[in-house]
Amino acid sequence: MKTDTLNAGEIKRYLGSGEIGCQIYFAQETDSTNIWAKRLAEDGAPSGTLVCADMQTAGRGRRGRSWSSPKGSSLYLSLLLRPDLPPQNASSLTLVMGMSVAEALRKDPGLDVRIKWPNDIVISGRKVCGILTEMSAAMTKIEYVIIGVGINVNLTEFPDEIRDMATSVALETGEQIPRARIAAQVLKCFEKNYKEYLKTGDMTGLRETYDAMMINCGKQVKVISPGHEMTGTAVGTNEKGELLVRKEDGTVEAVYAGEVSVRGIYGYV
Ligand code: BTN
Repeated sequence: MKTDTLNAGEIKRYLGSGEIGCQIYFAQETDSTNIWAKRLAEDGAPSGTLVCADMQTAGRGRRGRSWSSPKGSSLYLSLLLRPDLPPQNASSLTLVMGMSVAEALRKDPGLDVRIKWPNDIVISGRKVCGILTEMSAAMTKIEYVIIGVGINVNLTEFPDEIRDMATSVALETGEQIPRARIAAQVLKCFEKNYKEYLKTGDMTGLRETYDAMMINCGKQVKVISPGHEMTGTAVGTNEKGELLVRKEDGTVEAVYAGEVSVRGIYGYV
């Protein structure tokens, strides 16, 4: 097995210098890297600050779920950003991170990775990464955004409730990969995509690439949001990062990422 040293210096060694990862904090154990990053943001940490831990005791997922975060085998990362944008733009940053993770894993170790809109990263129909974006905003301006990324890297066992839906880089490649190398590759891809995103403050320059990696494009999907359910064919995303769903009557509805769940009509994908 290759050595899998994970700490701030090792990530920096693979990453080099840049705005993303300008400061890196690492802990063997924390409650949640998103919570830690929020504390740093409140204390004035700069945009591009990265928080990473080897284990989380209170890892959080979307829609109030927990995120299983055992020691020594996965990546738990949170990136702090301070974009000069209105609060409604924050959710599309999740898509920027999603496509960056997908691009990174396609490059190294070269996996056939797809995105399940808005932010699940999928290999062979199973989830390898989840993203939780949280924001603090004043009336018209984002104060900071925390993008939390959990990647199953060298994990080979999952809790019963997610065993059928989850996979890891190690299970897909048959190899253990240094987590610091994957973290750095994700951050490099994000830096490139974030630059493009900031030109317009939305997905205009990225959506074609994003849509090409989407696993649910052209598929029948069921969109479930509080008090509303809809089925149709996913046809892509718009510049706001919303999912475009063609309904049976031919009209196209744009679905905001917020608190929705999107399923294939026959299962997870
Ligand atoms: C999902 O439900 O799919 C999102 C999971 C996000 C998990 C990551 S792990 C690093 C960061 N810290 C957290 O507590 N959650 C995110």
